[in-house]
Amino acid sequence: MIYLAPIQGLTDRIYRNLFPVYFKGVDVAIAPFISSVRKMKPATNLLKELHPGKNTGIPTIPQITSSNPDDFIKLSNALYDIGCGTVNWNLGCPFRLVVKKGRGAGMLCYPDRVESFLEKTMPAIKPNLSIKLRIGLRYSDDILTLIPIFNRFPLTELIIHPRTAEQMYDGDVDLAIFQQCLGLSKHRVVYNGDIDSVEKFKMLARRFGSIDRWMIGRGLIANPFLAEEIKFQTEKPYAEKSKILRDFHDNLFAEYDKVLSGPAHIVNKMKEIWTYFGGFLHDREKIRKKINKIHHRDNYLDIVNKIFQETQVSERESGE
Ligand SMILES: Cc1cc2nc3c(=O)[nH]c(=O)nc-3n(C[C@H](O)[C@H](O)[C@H](O)COP(=O)(O)O)c2cc1C
Repeated sequence: MIYLAPIQGLTDRIYRNLFPVYFKGVDVAIAPFISSVRKMKPATNLLKELHPGKNTGIPTIPQITSSNPDDFIKLSNALYDIGCGTVNWNLGCPFRLVVKKGRGAGMLCYPDRVESFLEKTMPAIKPNLSIKLRIGLRYSDDILTLIPIFNRFPLTELIIHPRTAEQMYDGDVDLAIFQQCLGLSKHRVVYNGDIDSVEKFKMLARRFGSIDRWMIGRGLIANPFLAEEIKFQTEKPYAEKSKILRDFHDNLFAEYDKVLSGPAHIVNKMKEIWTYFGGFLHDREKIRKKINKIHHRDNYLDIVNKIFQETQVSERESGE
């Protein structure tokens, strides 16, 4: 099974609903996190965003960052009431503001807090619970103390990104610690981190033979065909891939254009997407630089037209 990783600002409801219209192979998605805040009303926009009736593309599991059991219980149960059978607790977010509040990866080095959080929340929440986590805040072995705690609770699975929060998204993933986690955990484990090619996937699949669930984030944004290439062992020709990507892009643009007010917002949104989008295109670095310089909506559409036209020309020239 392949999971689409949560990427705040990118893998939102619009993205997740359009994705399977163009690309195959992704089975489930975890939504980018929402915070459990006091006095959250069940009818808030956030809950509407996660309503299963409005998430008709990739089946989606909502994710919550929280260090407050009461707030977490309230939000989890509100999500259950709108039809979400499972929620995911984020113990991996490395951003300073989140960590400073003791949430996300900020809780990884406090096993006692994790334990008491689970003791309070597990009996009181209606949905199933899974956890997505890093291996530590600063040290890569925080997780080895946590897994025996997780083992005492009926979680559905652990999704492990084997980096510390200090590493953010760079540096090597620690596969040795991940291996140790597999030996320790009695829960199903999902691997996440740096799967950006079929070769990388095959290397990991050979090394971790017992794993059959893989989460991919940046690799799938860069090459949204990656899940089908992994599963079906075939790759579409470059020109066909870039044409499909263009259709996906145009549809994303149209959908965001409907909900974002003002031309600056849509350009900023699309620029954010292009951080990883189209990573498989030739001349990717040149494209990124061009996109970064754009400020106006018309100019954006113009440049994107040229970019995709060039992908067709470079295809003919290379004779692929
Ligand atoms: C911009 C950005 C936003 C992210 N937002 C979230 C988030 O909301 N929740 C979460 O659990 N992980 C988040 N992640 C982490 C990814 O889900 C994933 O764990 C990480 O990127 C490693 O996987 P990858 O190498 O396949 O991308 C984010 C990553 C990036 C780069």
